[in-house]
Amino acid sequence: MSSKKLFIHTMGCQMNVYDSGQIHRRLAPLGFSITEDINQADVIILNTCAIRAKAEQKAFSFLGRLVPLKEQNTHLIIAVGGCVAQQEGHRILSRMPHVDLVFGTQAIRRLPQTIQRIAATRCRVVTSLSIDDFSADTPNTSQLSEFVTIMRGCDNYCTYCVVPHVRGRESSRPPDEILFEIKGLVANGVREVTLLGQNVNSYGQKEGLCRFDQLLEMVNDIDGLERIRFTTSHPKDLTKEMMGAFKTLEKLCPHIHLPVQSGSDAVLKRMNRHYTRSHYVDKVALLRQVLPEIAITSDIIVGFPGETESDYEATLDLIRQVEFDGLFAFIYSDRPNAPAVRFGEKVAEPQKKARLQAVLACQEAFTIKKNQAMVGSVHKVLVDGPSKSAFSELGTVIQENQAIRSQWSGRTGTNKIVHFSPASYPDAPNQRLTGLTLEIMIEKAMPHSLWGRPISHPNSSLGKGEQTHAA
Ligand code: 5AD
Ligand code: SF4
Repeated sequence: MSSKKLFIHTMGCQMNVYDSGQIHRRLAPLGFSITEDINQADVIILNTCAIRAKAEQKAFSFLGRLVPLKEQNTHLIIAVGGCVAQQEGHRILSRMPHVDLVFGTQAIRRLPQTIQRIAATRCRVVTSLSIDDFSADTPNTSQLSEFVTIMRGCDNYCTYCVVPHVRGRESSRPPDEILFEIKGLVANGVREVTLLGQNVNSYGQKEGLCRFDQLLEMVNDIDGLERIRFTTSHPKDLTKEMMGAFKTLEKLCPHIHLPVQSGSDAVLKRMNRHYTRSHYVDKVALLRQVLPEIAITSDIIVGFPGETESDYEATLDLIRQVEFDGLFAFIYSDRPNAPAVRFGEKVAEPQKKARLQAVLACQEAFTIKKNQAMVGSVHKVLVDGPSKSAFSELGTVIQENQAIRSQWSGRTGTNKIVHFSPASYPDAPNQRLTGLTLEIMIEKAMPHSLWGRPISHPNSSLGKGEQTHAA
């Protein structure tokens, strides 16, 4: 097979984004290059998410839309991976006759052989439950920021969650393998890595490798790497040592995503979360004591079975008490094999929707307040490139300053998006701003991003890890 086109559509979380990168790297040696045009594809891969019912429905409707393509091109190979593939297995092949391959979350390594076999014999295949080894291929990347999976699976069995059922038991990669992968990324120009796991705080414990904070320390020592992020943290396993890492490791970004799920102890118990509201609030207070500027974001589920009006009021109250920097809120949905499917007292759909709206509205005020508090202060921003989607938010800034023709953006360590005008750098070709860390004075706060003015020149007095890198 030479010069074949591969179209990958990725749904769901960063773990899937990482897996899609791995899929591409495994298939590239067979002559596959990525196409953005699905009509040109020889192989279409859909990487699915099963976390909520809506995500699963989207996967099936995407697949449904591929029927005409398969009718036009019988050589087309359609493959379904990710969590819905793991969960549904053979049922996808029976339901969708135009699908050729269903591969499980741990079968990516064998994908090249499987695709070759299908191309040669036109058989239909399910590879769902075999266990892959962890070895990841270092990408030849042009990205500034990359994900690195440090562990897979989950042992926590939150009662609403499908992950332990589709991603399997928790297992951590050895530190030397992770460090090797990150060093390879850095050699390719990556400045920021996000370490991925369902519960990074329990990294290495089962295998007796090392603690997560110790892993972070080793990653922090990698020359040329500028920023470290990680996700996700389970509050029950967030240790004092881990919190201390925010103070001692200069590359660790001051941001933690710490999903709380509910503000009601009764609901937390039925969710099997193993912490109470007050444990959570205490951990937040400790984090802020260690690092006052830390940004804290969270996840909330509304309408968990049995959630009463007062349980949900407790969640609103928690949002007001903690004042998160940002919040993702979800309507509870039943997932196959998750114990909460069998819990009684399901909350009615209209009520769930109303609760979601109220939670989002409650948070919005704090998001804006946090952004406004940044106005007048200077933040280090790692420049991503030209702004992609914030033009509507920037409307007023642009009206106030007609000289602004193009906008660039990057992120602060606290993970806030900052837009700025490259006009401040008449002598620096725009391309060379990408990947630099600039000091930016925040001048305006919008609901979902900030506007600022760079105050440091890329070639002047940049601190550790902020040198301009050769183009
Ligand atoms: N219904 C709704 N939200 C869910 N999440 C996980 N499972 C469900 C479910 N069955 C949410 C949690 C989790 C985030 C990734 O998705 O808030 O933290
Ligand atoms: Fe799901 Fe809970 Fe594991 Fe997170 S910790 S993946 S919510 S079971």
